[in-house]
Amino acid sequence: MLLTEIDHVAIAVRDLDEAIAYYKESFGAEVAHRETVESDGVEEALIKVADSYIQLTAATRPDSPIAKFLEKRGEGLHHIGYRVDDCEAALASMVAAGARPIDPKPRPGSRGTTVAFIHPKGSLGTLIELVQENL
Ligand code: CO
Repeated sequence: MLLTEIDHVAIAVRDLDEAIAYYKESFGAEVAHRETVESDGVEEALIKVADSYIQLTAATRPDSPIAKFLEKRGEGLHHIGYRVDDCEAALASMVAAGARPIDPKPRPGSRGTTVAFIHPKGSLGTLIELVQENL
């Protein structure tokens, strides 16, 4: 079994501050980490739940994948981050099993992680992100 934890559930939102306020009002949730990943055109806020996160994700520019997603589908579930010990090995294993990688090689993610995305086509309609923590 390659997966060690649900790293995060990512939700695409139009307004990050409004989404944070919703989670605070609904659950008393506090933001554990907030980061802009300029290369991906996203700003995200992470709310910690046990050893996993809810990742509220907003677009920082119109050509961001999140902006395109919001335009097409509206706000909602965007992807699931599965935590693995070794992102490169997990990616290779998935590709060997027929998965379509979006990232041919692991790359830096938020929180200092190493990540790789797998296309939903061939993965039961789910955009999967493999997440390796580098603590
Ligand atoms: Co993610």
